[in-house]
Amino acid sequence: MLVLGIETSCDDTAVALVEDGRRVRASVVAAQHELHRPYGGVVPEIASRAHTERLLPVMRTALAQAGAGLRDIDAVAVGHRPGLIGSLLVGVSAAKALSWSLGVPLVGVDHVHAHLYAGALEAEPPEFPALGLVLSGGHSALYACRSAMEIERLGGTIDDALGEAFDKAAAILGLAQPGGPAIDRLASEPGADDQAIELPVSRLGVESLDFSFSGLKTALLYAVRGVPGPDGRFPRDVSALSDRQRRDCAASFQRAACRAVVLKLERAIDRGAGAVGEPFRSLITGGGVLCNSRLRRELADCAQRHGLALHVPPPAWCADNAAMIAGLAYHRLCAGQRDDLSLRAEPTTLC
Ligand code: KG4
Ligand code: ZN
Repeated sequence: MLVLGIETSCDDTAVALVEDGRRVRASVVAAQHELHRPYGGVVPEIASRAHTERLLPVMRTALAQAGAGLRDIDAVAVGHRPGLIGSLLVGVSAAKALSWSLGVPLVGVDHVHAHLYAGALEAEPPEFPALGLVLSGGHSALYACRSAMEIERLGGTIDDALGEAFDKAAAILGLAQPGGPAIDRLASEPGADDQAIELPVSRLGVESLDFSFSGLKTALLYAVRGVPGPDGRFPRDVSALSDRQRRDCAASFQRAACRAVVLKLERAIDRGAGAVGEPFRSLITGGGVLCNSRLRRELADCAQRHGLALHVPPPAWCADNAAMIAGLAYHRLCAGQRDDLSLRAEPTTLC
């Protein structure tokens, strides 16, 4: 079964063709970093306009890469939640038009659940129950997964997503956006001291499986620029940092961020899968922050300590892509689930 997937939830325009939920015949992503860079963050109106311009060329490229025509498609899948409403609407409208005109099923897919599926592309499926971890620019949460589709949220960030915190930390250090890769590069330089500055690791009470990253970000801001005086002004500018100090700050931030993630993973592992308390068999992960080199190492150690099989997607499928959308849609189709033209774009989701 060949599924064409469409992903436009934020600032990446993506189309993929995936066979039987696993074999990726094509995955094309047109990123918009250059359009948003002057504004220091994603501008929703610019993102949705760019999706409108780019979606059909991206789709043509994906079909050409797969060596397929529109008539070869058995179903159309689209990430319909959560995300920026204007961006989601472009993908959802295109998916509806395509499925209606070709007379093939339409399947809406949850973007965050699709991140958890990315590790199963071109790979052996994970063993369930699995502990799921999604860390991206917009989401940071833990899940108990009984299958690719039965997903229970255990906890999530109460403030910034981890990718957002990496991006803001990079801005504090005067690095280019997107900040995650910039911090990762700097922290990986030889001689970087990850204990040069003491940064807080949020625990949020002994039971909590939620994350909080805003305190970490503020602690970095104060470490770099000093504590603001009564007039709100910072005593120092980032330009006061030497290259070595900047590198050490990046490494210290990355260490504290990874410690906060592993702490909550260990808590969730100790507790087991949901109410039943059955032990997890694997750790499945997704989202752009999973590109982080230190986090990948720490997750490997954590999974090994607890005897869990670790599934981390290759970097191209950690970040937003449409292969994960088409892949998960295959399982919905096999379960007899499909949507119709009343499918809605939903900016927020509670699951
Ligand atoms: O999954 P993604 O492409 O988009 C969202 O759904 O948000 O994630 C993008 C986020 C950005 O915040 C980016 O800084 C972060 O992932 N990121 C990283 C790394 N590569 C990307 N964060 C830390 N280390 C990295 N190497
Ligand atoms: Zn995402």
